[in-house]
Amino acid sequence: MKIDVHTKDRDYSVYLERGILARADAMIGRHGHVFIVSDDGVPLKWRKMLQDQYPEAGIFVFPNGEASKNFDTLQEILKAMQEAHLSRQDTIIALGGGVVGDMAGFASAIYMRGIRYINIPTTSLSQIDSSIGGKTAVDFNGVKNSVGAFWQPDMVLADPDTLSTLSRRHYHNGLAEAVKEGLIKDEALFNIFEKR
Ligand SMILES: NC(=O)c1ccc[n+]([C@@H]2O[C@H](COP(=O)([O-])OP(=O)(O)OC[C@H]3O[C@@H](n4cnc5c(N)ncnc54)[C@H](O)[C@@H]3O)[C@@H](O)[C@H]2O)c1
Repeated sequence: MKIDVHTKDRDYSVYLERGILARADAMIGRHGHVFIVSDDGVPLKWRKMLQDQYPEAGIFVFPNGEASKNFDTLQEILKAMQEAHLSRQDTIIALGGGVVGDMAGFASAIYMRGIRYINIPTTSLSQIDSSIGGKTAVDFNGVKNSVGAFWQPDMVLADPDTLSTLSRRHYHNGLAEAVKEGLIKDEALFNIFEKR
């Protein structure tokens, strides 16, 4: 399934398809150097699948979890991008859940005042919600998502197969978001729940 997203800054497409991670290079192509940002909770099998398609790509992997969503990690990502000599012609690929998307997206928004980035969300929450809309942020001074930027991805590749390795808790977390959105936006669905 292809969903076209129109924003005032950029138009892009979200591709939702089983097995699309294995064909990411055909979808993304090669625009300059590729640099992957991920966290160490994303199973190696998904990271390897992407790296096999981009063997020359640089990569930065940070410790998984909300505790990493801060300026220290952001600086480390930016440093790794700079040391890889990335320019505005190059491409960042975020591979992971909402934390990776928010961090890689924010780093892409501010590195050289903006670099192309592709989001490959691998959690149900990030496929349903956080990979779309261009919101990026870090937690700061004890306040969640308090510093960030709007930076739209050039493309989103959501592969439902990657959800097969998610814990039940994280899988249900994303589904709860889908139900919430459905109840807010679909009156008929809301009425079904209300009658119970
Ligand atoms: N930008 C937005 O619009 C937006 C919207 C909603 C939420 N968010 C942010 O998203 C974050 C939460 O995202 P999340 O729920 O994806 O959590 P997460 O990114 O922390 O991922 C949850 C855990 O699952 C692991 N993981 C990722 N992919 C996996 C896979 N395929 N198999 C097994 N494990 C995997 C991660 O390493 C992590 O340990 C929060 O920081 C929240 O603020 C952002």
